[in-house]
Amino acid sequence: MATQNKQTTQPSQTTLDAITALSKRRGFVFQNSEIYGGLANLYDYGPMGAVLLRNIRNLWWKTFIETRDDMVGMDSSIISHRKIWEASGHVAGFSDAMIDCKACKTRTRADHLIENYFESKNKTIQVEGKSLKEFEELIQKEKIACPTCKKFDWTPVRKFNLLFPVQLGILEESQSLAYLRGETAQGIFTNFKNVVDSSRVKLPFGIGQLGKSFRNEITKGNFVFRTLEFEQGEIEYFFDPESSNWEELYETWKKDMWVFVTKSLGIREANLRWRTHSDEERSFYSKRTEDLEYHYPFGFKELWGLAYRTNYDLSQHIKFSGIDLSYVDPKTGRKFVPHVIEPAVGVNRLFLMVLCDAYWFDEAKQRTVLRLSPSLAPYKAAVFPLLSNKPELVIKARELYGMLKKDYTVAWDERGNIGKRYLAQDEIGTPACITIDYQTLKDDTVTVRNRDTAEQVRVKIDKLKGVLA
Ligand code: GAP
Repeated sequence: MATQNKQTTQPSQTTLDAITALSKRRGFVFQNSEIYGGLANLYDYGPMGAVLLRNIRNLWWKTFIETRDDMVGMDSSIISHRKIWEASGHVAGFSDAMIDCKACKTRTRADHLIENYFESKNKTIQVEGKSLKEFEELIQKEKIACPTCKKFDWTPVRKFNLLFPVQLGILEESQSLAYLRGETAQGIFTNFKNVVDSSRVKLPFGIGQLGKSFRNEITKGNFVFRTLEFEQGEIEYFFDPESSNWEELYETWKKDMWVFVTKSLGIREANLRWRTHSDEERSFYSKRTEDLEYHYPFGFKELWGLAYRTNYDLSQHIKFSGIDLSYVDPKTGRKFVPHVIEPAVGVNRLFLMVLCDAYWFDEAKQRTVLRLSPSLAPYKAAVFPLLSNKPELVIKARELYGMLKKDYTVAWDERGNIGKRYLAQDEIGTPACITIDYQTLKDDTVTVRNRDTAEQVRVKIDKLKGVLA
């Protein structure tokens, strides 16, 4: 069923409030622990959100793992040994600069405080790479007040580590400290040798995984954009720097990421851009890092990072574990530590981007529509009997619903009037609404309404699957 091409229409002026309200109204996203007052920067996904999230996840897995000969998948534990995070540098360096307001006790990220202050003055400032002392000097010099209580009464700027520590019950006190993983990547590096030894992979190849990561973020999250618990889709693409050209591999990954976002997820190109990390911002071990950014309602922000991490991580784990994680070239017998290019995306950021890009208020018909790509829509079609109190229509509609359900995710609705049912399906992005009426009983045809144009056509039931496909 043809849906309207979003690329040819104006990007909508979607606000985050509109997205948040729709998410709650239609069961995409709820505030976590809401009945107890909620917890900041944590969200739960409702019936529609869980399916949309799963559809995005499945597309990522299919595109980058299942359909490629040079990729394998894995699934490592969330709780992990403290030494992994010592080796990776997270224990010492995975921190944000934070500052507390002594008057109202609000805790803020110093870089965000400064950035927002300059933004409000229509100026830009480069905060990446600045030291704690430089942050402090800037806040003092500009007399930046607390955004919550407007007072100027700050503590010194301090480092705040983002890793979540956990205590393991099975180990004695001094050994019991472990961490919830701060990125899925380390589970891939620490299993590199296991994957090489247990599968037929040969360089260049990648290992990908989807899973939860945890960061004790102290910032205003912008809905599901930045949360304490989130899902990542990370790939470590290993190669021999002597036989592969890293710049070519890097460009190929850039292309693959772009195609996934624009073609598979159907995102408007005008809302995307690449941004190269400056020398100050880039990790010291990375030779190049670029972010694919999406134009969220709060500005262009990082969606997907692409970093050439050299062989830093494997080398660190060799050093800290004492285990040889090098690779032996099967042809030449040469032993070396492979280099890696890492495309790392947040699934929840993909989710938020998909919602923002699909959200459309149709002025002409005064309705809200989620113009989701049909492959992402939670339901591919909805089936309604025209009248719910006419058993002959309900029986026929139920029959059709049962038939379609074998091949598609299909919604059933018999509540209220037909107009309200259409509006409800528009808001969850269902591409087609099928109505069984009295003519159906005569000639086996149904009406099929297109979500984007709201136009209806009559279709023979035996042609319906073809129309939907
Ligand atoms: N292994 C590299 C790594 O983790 P990152 O840039 O810190 O790099 C990768 O994270 C992606 O994970 C980001 O591009 C973003 O999409 C997502 N992400 C990071 N922190 C997040 C958070 N607190 N909430 C939601 N998504 C987050």
